[in-house]
Amino acid sequence: MRLDIVSIFPDYFAPLSLSLVGKAIQGGIVDLQVHDLRAWTHDRHHTTDDTPYGGGAGMVMKPEPWGEALDALEEASSLPMTVVVPTPAGRPFTQELAYELAERQRLVFACGRYEGIDQRVIDHCADTYELIEVSLGDYVLNGGEVAVLAIVEAVVRLLPGVIGNPQSLVEESHAPGHSRLLEYPNYTKPPVWRERAVPDVLLSGHHGRVAEWRAEQALERTRQRRPDLLEGEIS
Ligand code: ADE
Repeated sequence: MRLDIVSIFPDYFAPLSLSLVGKAIQGGIVDLQVHDLRAWTHDRHHTTDDTPYGGGAGMVMKPEPWGEALDALEEASSLPMTVVVPTPAGRPFTQELAYELAERQRLVFACGRYEGIDQRVIDHCADTYELIEVSLGDYVLNGGEVAVLAIVEAVVRLLPGVIGNPQSLVEESHAPGHSRLLEYPNYTKPPVWRERAVPDVLLSGHHGRVAEWRAEQALERTRQRRPDLLEGEIS
């Protein structure tokens, strides 16, 4: 899979050379290219933003550098482009969307800052490429960079060959076809730590009872933390 990231802060993406994503790049599963949007500016100050038409606080990213960046990226490879624009106004990022993005050949991430990117760039992307606007959650970040780090990690770990034991993807709480429950609590050695004991059932060696206990814990956690996930289910 080819990944292009365009940002005015390319240094944000240094951590992608670490851990599993770093190995996927090293191993040739992912071709990651990070680009500085300012490379497509032509003025002395490398300006990428301007005041909004209609007034209001904040700045808007200018369309010209984005237009040139997208044209250059389109030229750089014949793979079809899916443009991902992180924005709090986007489609919520879920495991389902991560699986959907993992099927694409090429993702181009356009990181907005300030009040976002001029809408004409977004409309141009929708007309020319596949466009997906994605929100990480109902809160406001200073820009799309942190959202892109999260999306890239969630997508790359789904690519064949990235995770050593693919069965671990199948067992994840948000895997396709899995119940939509949150993960049960996990424990490892020692059996007692600071006077807190591991639940007896997990030491019993009784697989049926372990499975039952885990299912109860997952359901209780979900009731407490994410009752929205249980809506429409028979309880
Ligand atoms: N940019 C700013 N806030 C964001 C959010 N919540 N999700 C995605 N991109 C963003």
